[in-house]
Amino acid sequence: MAKYKIAWMPGDGIGIDVMDATRIVLDVLKFDAEYIFTDIGWEIWRKEGDPLPKRTIDLLNSVDAALFGAITSKPKDEAEAELLPELKGKGYKYISPIVRMRQMFNLYSNIRPCKAYKGNPLNFKDDIDIVVFRENTEDLYSAVEFFPVPEDLRILLNKHPKMKDFANDPNDEMALSLRIITKDGCTNIVRSAFEYAKKYRRKKVTLIEKPNVIRETSGMMTRIARAISREYPEIKFDEVNVDAACMWLVKNPESFDVIVTSNMFGDIVSDLAAQLVGGLGFASSGNIGDKLAIFEPTHGSAPKYAGQYKVNPIACILAAKLMLDYLKEEKAAVRIENAIARVIAEGKIRTYDMGGKNTSLEVAREIASNL
Ligand code: NAI
Ligand code: MG
Repeated sequence: MAKYKIAWMPGDGIGIDVMDATRIVLDVLKFDAEYIFTDIGWEIWRKEGDPLPKRTIDLLNSVDAALFGAITSKPKDEAEAELLPELKGKGYKYISPIVRMRQMFNLYSNIRPCKAYKGNPLNFKDDIDIVVFRENTEDLYSAVEFFPVPEDLRILLNKHPKMKDFANDPNDEMALSLRIITKDGCTNIVRSAFEYAKKYRRKKVTLIEKPNVIRETSGMMTRIARAISREYPEIKFDEVNVDAACMWLVKNPESFDVIVTSNMFGDIVSDLAAQLVGGLGFASSGNIGDKLAIFEPTHGSAPKYAGQYKVNPIACILAAKLMLDYLKEEKAAVRIENAIARVIAEGKIRTYDMGGKNTSLEVAREIASNL
């Protein structure tokens, strides 16, 4: 029996291309795993009315980790229109399977490394090596939203002094999205960031929030981060407001090390950081909880390139590397990263985004031969 059971979830579009490429590397590495294919995404929604079927959830409950490619998702009207005729009008509702998996398995920690590999022509600057820890389950993405605003909620809200400014807006001309932050959510993400910094001998953790304006939610995150930081005296801790952080990330990206932040700020800041080191072809991420972890490139399904094996597989191969780190197969993880670094530095085999003409599979084979 194989040492690990891995859920294999290519999903839609180029998710399939980059997962095929990644498999070449894992196979040459002789990573001792059983890969179990499972369905997720748009094509399954169309056929079954659910982009995250129960069999996928059951499998995720039984594996050591999962590797996920990408999925397509489309707005409400198109979701209904593309269902098979026999499923239409039956009340099926498309809910993002990614958000659902994060919440269902409490994958509270989203880790996104952003490293400038030497010789990557897409680097904004060299010497960037940032790891973003983004809270993954709460905040403005908790999906507690209202439109129109229910009358009973409005009555309650009107007791808030600041609601005076909105007193004349009718309920059906107002939309509400709730920013929910909990003590557990903050503690888990801040703890993950510091533990990571400790394990990998990182020097600094930067909290990115906005407590001067969003006083309650960012305030809670800040208080908890300060308290936890005191348990790690060897690691420097600093705080930067999210708007300023975006400027500093562009001006002095080398000065950042580990970043910790809440869900929406993390979504934005991690995309910015990813673009500093080559963009979507290099951006990998892990969604980590206490019982399960799902690793993925952060790009989507790029339908216009689907099946052409044209896109850069490095993001997905780096996601596999993160998975090996998580499984404590650190030697194998380092081999993957070194092989990627070598192929990028040599600059002979490259996909279109790096100015080359090679296929996803050729890049993967080149990485595999450098392991
Ligand atoms: P996308 O990430 O799929 O692609 C945007 C563009 O970035 C592509 O057209 C391509 O030019 C470039 N790109 C993406 N990945 C690349 C790679 N590995 N190598 C080289 N170039 C790459 O984003 P888009 O077009 O906004 O969304 C397409 C679909 O993907 C939508 O249905 C969207 O909802 C979904 N999506 C899914 C995500 C996921 O599964 N995690 C994340 C983002 C979008
Ligand atoms: Mg994003």
